[in-house]
This record gives sequence, structure tokens and C-alpha cells, in this order.
Amino acid sequence: MMKKLFLAAALCASASVALAAPANVLIKHDTNGMEITTTKNMCVMCHAADYKLAGKPVKAGNPTTMPANHWSKAKDGKMAVDPQRYNCTICHSPAKNN
Ligand code: HEC
Ligand code: HEC
Repeated sequence: MMKKLFLAAALCASASVALAAPANVLIKHDTNGMEITTTKNMCVMCHAADYKLAGKPVKAGNPTTMPANHWSKAKDGKMAVDPQRYNCTICHSPAKNN
């Protein structure tokens, strides 16, 4: 719990310094049970499958890949979620949660 709160606070602080005030892009689905922790991020599993698809339209029903500005090069040289964007729900809110 503390670890999660710390992560949220750290990312929040860096996001507000380094990025322009973000528009709130709504999440079209509910996010119940989709936890974001330091080791697990379900949003990434669906929305960050392949950098080459960043910003490209997808077939109906498939998750849009995060835009290119959400990615950066990780230590292994591969494109991955930019650490400043890791905590998706700082900026994205679900359109409907029950
Ligand atoms: C099981 C796969 C899956 C998971 C997990 C998931 N999504 Fe989605 N998401 C989708 C699909 C499918 C859509 C609808 C198609 C689209 O617009 O991308 C969508 C839509 C969205 C949209 C709207 C995109 C647009 O073009 O308007 C956002 C933003 C989003 N999701 C963010 C998130 C965030 C943040 C999380 C984690 C809390 C998350 N998603 C978890 C599959 C998923
Ligand atoms: C600092 C704020 C911020 C964070 C954190 C963030 N996003 Fe975004 N996201 C945005 C903004 C603003 C846009 C609108 C397009 C743009 O400016 O790049 C966007 C666009 C998107 C889109 C495309 C929506 C569309 O209609 O094309 C998806 C998908 C998405 N984000 C998913 C995610 C996921 C998944 C995460 C977490 C791994 C995440 N975002 C983290 C601000 C953020």
C-alpha cells in the first residue's frame, strides 16, 4: 500500500513538472480490478503491446496503442512505457465505473 502511494506521488510530481497540463482522455471501459503497482500494470498489457503501432488506428474492439509520446527507450534498448506515464490514471479517468 505505502509503496503504491509513494509511486503515485512520485509520478504525479514528475508529471506535473515535465509535461504540459494534460487533457483528460476518458477510458471508454470501466477499470474495476485494474490495479497499477510497481510490478503490474494491466493498462500496459493491452495498450502498449507494440511501439510500431503507436498512434495507429486499430480494428473495432481492439485497444488503441498508446501514442509515441507515451514511450521511451528502456535500459535494454527496447521501447517501453515512459516512466512518467506509468501511472495511467493520473491523467486518464474511466468514463464509467460501477
Ligand atoms: C483487456 C484489455 C484492456 C485493459 C486491461 C485496459 N484497456 Fe483500455 N481499452 C481497451 C479497449 C478494447 C478499448 C476500446 C478501443 C480503444 O479505443 O482503444 C480501450 C479504450 C481505452 C481508452 C480510450 C482510447 C481512445 O482512443 O479513446 C483509454 C484512454 C484507455 N482504454 C486506457 C486504459 C487504462 C488507463 C487502463 C488501465 C487502468 C486500461 N485502458 C486497461 C482494452 C483494455
Ligand atoms: C501525464 C498524463 C498522461 C499519462 C500518465 C498517461 N497518458 Fe495516455 N494520454 C494523455 C494525453 C494528454 C493523451 C492525448 C494524446 C496525446 O496528447 O498524446 C493521451 C492519449 C492516450 C491514448 C490514445 C487515445 C486516443 O484517443 O488516441 C491511449 C490509448 C493512452 N493515452 C493510454 C495510456 C496508458 C495505457 C497510460 C499508462 C501506461 C497512459 N496513457 C498514461 C495523457 C497521459
